[in-house]
Amino acid sequence: MDWTKEFYTRSRERWGPSGILPHHQDRAGQIARLCGWGKKRVLELGAGAGGAAAAMADLGHDVTAMDIAPPAVAYTAELAKEPRAGTLIALEADFFTAEFEDPFDVVAYWNGFGVGNDADQRRLLKRIATQWLAPNGSLLLDVANPLHWARIAGREQVVETDRAGRFIKRTGFDPVGCRFLDSWSAEDDPSGRIDTQSIRCYSPADFLLLLEGTGLTARHAEMNGITFALDGVDASPRLAFEEGWEYLVQLVVDPPV
Ligand SMILES: C[S@@+](CC[C@H](N)C(=O)[O-])C[C@H]1O[C@@H](n2cnc3c(N)ncnc32)[C@H](O)[C@@H]1O
Repeated sequence: MDWTKEFYTRSRERWGPSGILPHHQDRAGQIARLCGWGKKRVLELGAGAGGAAAAMADLGHDVTAMDIAPPAVAYTAELAKEPRAGTLIALEADFFTAEFEDPFDVVAYWNGFGVGNDADQRRLLKRIATQWLAPNGSLLLDVANPLHWARIAGREQVVETDRAGRFIKRTGFDPVGCRFLDSWSAEDDPSGRIDTQSIRCYSPADFLLLLEGTGLTARHAEMNGITFALDGVDASPRLAFEEGWEYLVQLVVDPPV
């Protein structure tokens, strides 16, 4: 996507390194909780500053953390220099073109799926199913929730960034393309430059349609810790679906026919 490398590079430069935060440890814990115990070979797509990747390596997994944005990869490479129970490799690459020789037990993509159009997303899912995942492997994927983003569209706030001062952050929603729009402009920038992230959101029903023909099947879905069925059959009354900005799905490779 034309906008991604520049948007995420600028965004990461604003924030600097993240270290390992509690939500990174929660993500790392998903591997054992959903994919079973034992050391795994993990590929993390869009790994950002590497906090979740380092947390996974701390749990003994062998992790390749891929990102397209050079500063994100540089921060991950710093984390990779520290001793960890498993290995951590920081890789600058584009997940639409990257190639690997050996398969992974787990591919994870937390917070970021949907940068392209539906055909792009399908292309990525097919690559994961046919080229990257081992036959018993799992994809852990966060999917942006349209209900939430449509609800908060129009919100504007001033955000103090770690390294680049104050920014105005506007949240929008394109109801035709079903995409959330996350726009940033520096408060004191006379040029008025605005950087926008545009992410395709999928209702669970639409996500199931997207999956068709990709070689992946949904095994589990949860939002804010509450499990639900993607086909809506047993929607939990406890699940306030509009409250979560994304939901987690676990996808497994279709058995050979
Ligand atoms: C919204 S950020 C999330 C980062 C991290 N997963 C997190 O939750 O903090 C999405 C990340 O995906 C990366 N990304 C976007 N398109 C990519 C691509 N084609 N190949 C590899 N990484 C990509 C961006 O550079 C960015 O770091």
